[in-house]
Amino acid sequence: MDSTLDSKDDSKEDLQKRTRQRIAVIPGDGVGQEVIPQALNVIRASGADLDFIEFDWGADRYLRDGTTVPADGFAMLTRDFDAILAGAFGDPRVKTNIHAKEILLGMRFKMDLYANLRPVRLLDASLCPLKGIEPKDVDFVVIRENTEGVYTDAGGVFKQGTPDEIAIQEDINTRKGVERIIRYAFEYCTQHTKLDGSPRSRVLMCDKSNAMTHAGGLWQRVFQEVSAEYPRIATPHMYVDALCMQMVRDPRPFDVIVTNNIFGDIITDLAAGLQGGLGMAASGNIHPGKTSMFEPVHGSAPPIAGKNIANPFGAVLTAAMMLAHLGFTKESAKIEAAVLDAVKQKKTTQDLGGTLGTREAGDWVANRVSQT
Ligand code: NAD
Ligand code: IPM
Ligand code: MN
Repeated sequence: MDSTLDSKDDSKEDLQKRTRQRIAVIPGDGVGQEVIPQALNVIRASGADLDFIEFDWGADRYLRDGTTVPADGFAMLTRDFDAILAGAFGDPRVKTNIHAKEILLGMRFKMDLYANLRPVRLLDASLCPLKGIEPKDVDFVVIRENTEGVYTDAGGVFKQGTPDEIAIQEDINTRKGVERIIRYAFEYCTQHTKLDGSPRSRVLMCDKSNAMTHAGGLWQRVFQEVSAEYPRIATPHMYVDALCMQMVRDPRPFDVIVTNNIFGDIITDLAAGLQGGLGMAASGNIHPGKTSMFEPVHGSAPPIAGKNIANPFGAVLTAAMMLAHLGFTKESAKIEAAVLDAVKQKKTTQDLGGTLGTREAGDWVANRVSQT
């Protein structure tokens, strides 16, 4: 694990006073409340010595007292915690989705967690819907810009409810924002290997610069400039539509993909399909040196919530990402190995073809971790 991108800045005074790192846990809504407890059990089984403090931010709290994020919430997370483990946000009872916007996008934007790191790994050939694709063929990472784009809420509605209604959703791309995410992708490529130990060697930029020429032009120019500093890294480019086609035809050429907020969102659900579905996909929302947030890629999945059928492995693998980020490299590796064993031995939930419930699959992995 590298030292600059993934580690906390432990020079912070309050960190030095503490012996144990503190994790803010926000399970959120729906299946988030089922998968996060499993992730915590697995972390405990790994022996990682952490303090967990749970927060009830989510739909229930919002419906009860109107609170999405308490005053000072983001400052408190940054100040008092080393990392955040979140579940999912979204509830059919909150039609505006205001709580999800304020909590989830609030953490990403207000804590400036600009790099959304979404690794895409196939653990077993049986999980991939593509013919003849092996685990070694799917080992890439999507690095999604996480603080700008069409997510900033810039825009508005004019003459709402009339035949003349106009809705504007701006796509914000700043020079600084684009440059730091592209640089992050190149640094990531330099500092990380693939699972089989071979070096990473390609940063592919994905955009829609043929149609969205203003924003695309900025991304193109910055990509060229930054890539000149990394002459050993290949720099392919794909339009997002062509990339989607390529991803399902043959995902083997992908290595590191850098893209904007919305395209990153969409292609990582597609990529999750290659890994066995949304129940398997992990992610980190990272600002190097600052308190970062880790969450599975999936949402609150209302139709399957509360039934003990959600796959906890995306959350468990997310916990492993968080541990690696915090310096618990051995513990993280043990967890990833145990999830791999579970998949190989079909100790999984139904979405992966197994017969276990959320709790049982989580227990199996936790037991495996504690035996290693
Ligand atoms: P979703 O990810 O919740 O579900 C999409 C599909 O994946 C569904 O078929 C669901 O059953 C399945 N799925 C998701 N997680 C699973 C798991 N752990 N195990 C097995 N199957 C799983 O996306 P959606 O249905 O579009 O959205 C539902 C709600 O979640 C919405 O309110 C949405 O805004 C929200 N959402 C939140 C996040 C987040 O908090 N990070 C991410 C995506 C969606
Ligand atoms: C994700 C989700 C969020 C996003 C939603 C819930 C706002 O889909 O984390 O992938 O679009 O970023
Ligand atoms: Mn998404």
